[in-house]
Amino acid sequence: MSKPPVFEIDLARFATDPYPALKTMRAQCPIAFVPQLGSILFTRRDDIATAEKNIAVFSSDQPEGLMNKLMGHNMMRKDGTDHQTEKKALFRSVSPITVRDHWTAVFQQHATDLIESLKPTGQADIVRDYALTLSANCLRSLTGLTNLTPAEMDATSQQMIDGISNYAEDPEIEAKCHAATQLLDDAIDDMANKNNIDSEPTLLHVMLESGMQFDSIRANIKLAISGGQNEPRDAISGATWALLTHEYQLQKVLSGDIAWLQVFEEYARWMSPIGMSPRRIATQHTFNEIDLTPGDRVFFMFGSGNRDETHFENADQFELARDIGKSIAFGAGPHFCAGAWASRAMIADVALPTLFGALKNLRIDSNQPPPLMGGWAFRGLLNLPVHWDS
Ligand code: HEM
Repeated sequence: MSKPPVFEIDLARFATDPYPALKTMRAQCPIAFVPQLGSILFTRRDDIATAEKNIAVFSSDQPEGLMNKLMGHNMMRKDGTDHQTEKKALFRSVSPITVRDHWTAVFQQHATDLIESLKPTGQADIVRDYALTLSANCLRSLTGLTNLTPAEMDATSQQMIDGISNYAEDPEIEAKCHAATQLLDDAIDDMANKNNIDSEPTLLHVMLESGMQFDSIRANIKLAISGGQNEPRDAISGATWALLTHEYQLQKVLSGDIAWLQVFEEYARWMSPIGMSPRRIATQHTFNEIDLTPGDRVFFMFGSGNRDETHFENADQFELARDIGKSIAFGAGPHFCAGAWASRAMIADVALPTLFGALKNLRIDSNQPPPLMGGWAFRGLLNLPVHWDS
């Protein structure tokens, strides 16, 4: 039994590319305290999958956590029955059946409208002009907050994400996060008060119908926006970039030998849009001979688990032929992503096939600044300039 070893990182380098440091950790000290993050990082896939299910020790309830303080107390920061009750209420909107029977057609309409407007231009930035707008429009429909613009949806999502990972307590980031949550609370109140709830199975609609407390509804809608905008945006643009830079694999997809779902799932393994989920140690515990003390903050590093060499050969490579059954891109326990089925439909059934089907000879525009990737807790492309034959 021993205290967790200490592993130092260069935070700026980690934010640009966390994978080299995480690889060293997996090999040398898979559970270690990282002073720059003030947290104990779990980096191996199986350790994360085991620990995440033990909610008595690895609790999601973090009363002092930034998410609670800034966004309200949502289900992602609750355990046991409290968590399950809210998840069940919300799930009616995003279950595999509702997604198949309702949302896929809605998402397809958004994608078709957007691609038709882009097509004649011959060039675009996929992050800004396609992934961001499509993700935002799908989320406006899904949440029921059609009173927000796509730009507001994206900006508020980003400002909340920045706020909840603001461990350095930058007051400007905190102020922007407060402004974002205020805007969202007003939009939620507006839609709920107008009694503007039609028959669509939106998140707002199903939660109002369930009788959930209004504070919890607000908190869970903000959770869906913080988690449901940038991840699809990053996965759509990132998977597009992955295909455009792996020509042989792209041809296999276009010829129908490899499914679009495999493209999305392998991308989410390789460059996990959510790289980390935090927990609080609730009770004294020893895990793999490492002592954990009540109050310790643990980060489950999903992005690292998805590069674990024990499960993924050539883990650093984007390889569509691989078995991604062990991927934990959507989590590995009771907090498994509620939006997983909506994301698969939005990205694999709609966004990618619509883009590659409509824009002939799509390619990266080498006359523009090259694509840049960033982030460790949330990771995605910052730009993807492309052109096509119009
Ligand atoms: C590429 C797309 C997405 C990825 C990779 C992703 C990933 C994740 C991950 C890793 C978690 C945490 C799981 C854990 O701690 O075990 C999570 C939770 C969650 N996600 Fe997603 N997500 C995506 C899209 C969405 C969308 C579109 C929504 C909108 C409905 C959404 C809603 C949620 C919610 C509500 C939770 C909390 C679930 C709970 O606490 O039980 N996600 N997601």
